[in-house]
Amino acid sequence: MRSNPFHLSYLAIALALLGCSVMANGPAKAPTGPKPGEPLSRAPLHYFSQHCANCHGDMGEMFGPQFATGYTEAELQKMVKKMADLNANAPLSGADLAAQVEFLKALSARRPFVAWTSSAKGVLSGEAMPGTKLSATAGGKSVPVTQKGWTWSVQAHPPVTVTATHGKTSVKLEIPKRAFTPGQ
Ligand code: HEC
Repeated sequence: MRSNPFHLSYLAIALALLGCSVMANGPAKAPTGPKPGEPLSRAPLHYFSQHCANCHGDMGEMFGPQFATGYTEAELQKMVKKMADLNANAPLSGADLAAQVEFLKALSARRPFVAWTSSAKGVLSGEAMPGTKLSATAGGKSVPVTQKGWTWSVQAHPPVTVTATHGKTSVKLEIPKRAFTPGQ
């Protein structure tokens, strides 16, 4: 059999094109979620107040009660992505999209939410919903938490566990394992 370099390279180009079109038309990539060890790049409460609150209220007061329960996880994620991309013109992706979805689920369920947004010079900081009581431990010892409005900070090196309590519900954020509190 004769080898035919033209046909081989034609095939390679065809495959490359096919690869591109599969990538372009394939299903939208699911957000990858936060990478362990990294804080979020966008503070979710601050983001919401800047980009969503004008239509939905400062802390989502204009949403109906338990609005998030009407959606599956995937539907809510799609809705938030659409809102961020189109209504707010402030796209979110990856961990930041996942954090915004969790924040809305927490709002809807009236459960506390805590996010870790920065780590600098031995100070960890982040956000928590207003009215949330916070405490923290580092190396098994309790460390003081400074809270100002939505933001909190702790003078300690990871691993640090931040516990947030709102009413009868508590959630724990284990930094650096996660960058925001998961829902149940
Ligand atoms: C320009 C006004 C506007 C902005 C800004 C906006 N939204 Fe919306 N949002 C709407 C409207 C209108 C609806 C209901 C209609 C629809 O489904 O599009 C909605 C619906 C929603 C819902 C579904 C709520 C329910 O009760 O079913 C969620 C969740 C949501 N928005 C999240 C967000 C987030 C997160 C942002 C910020 C990134 C945002 N929205 C920004 C107008 C807005």
